[in-house]
Amino acid sequence: MDKKVYELLNDQINKELYSAYLYLSFADYYEEEGLDGYANWYEIQAQEERDHALIFRNYLHENGEKVKLLAIDQPDKTFSSYLEPLEAGLEHEKYVTSLINDIYAAAVAANDYRTQQFLGWFIDEQLEEEDTADDMITKMKLFGGDARSLFELNQEYASRTYSVPSPLAGE
Ligand code: FEO
Repeated sequence: MDKKVYELLNDQINKELYSAYLYLSFADYYEEEGLDGYANWYEIQAQEERDHALIFRNYLHENGEKVKLLAIDQPDKTFSSYLEPLEAGLEHEKYVTSLINDIYAAAVAANDYRTQQFLGWFIDEQLEEEDTADDMITKMKLFGGDARSLFELNQEYASRTYSVPSPLAGE
């Protein structure tokens, strides 16, 4: 495997695990604020991010490459409104999209068609994640100021359940 493609793929394991950490910190904030539905939503999001890390890890193993696990940064954000974690979430997902694009660009430069195909799932996933993050912001802006509506939104997010992403299913 091309060295740059390898390094970006290996780094992405760390970035996805950081995403899991970041979203756990969002869940902690909402838990402390009494919005257990939002906390549930971000706990599940953290599980998905861990899964994303495993998908990159598995891909390196399948290609006979060594995995190098790196130190995970500490999430350091503090929040002063229910909206802030949602906005930070969208910003973070846009950043992750840019990272996936960077890996894709490196794979194109290296004529690594296999990695380009592997990244297709993540390209679709990032569209979905940005869309969902944007939707959560919109709903909070529209309804978050009303206690009853916020209660209902919280109930909606409490119903989110974990499901194994398709690249990991069947393993
Ligand atoms: Fe692993 Fe939210 O992107």
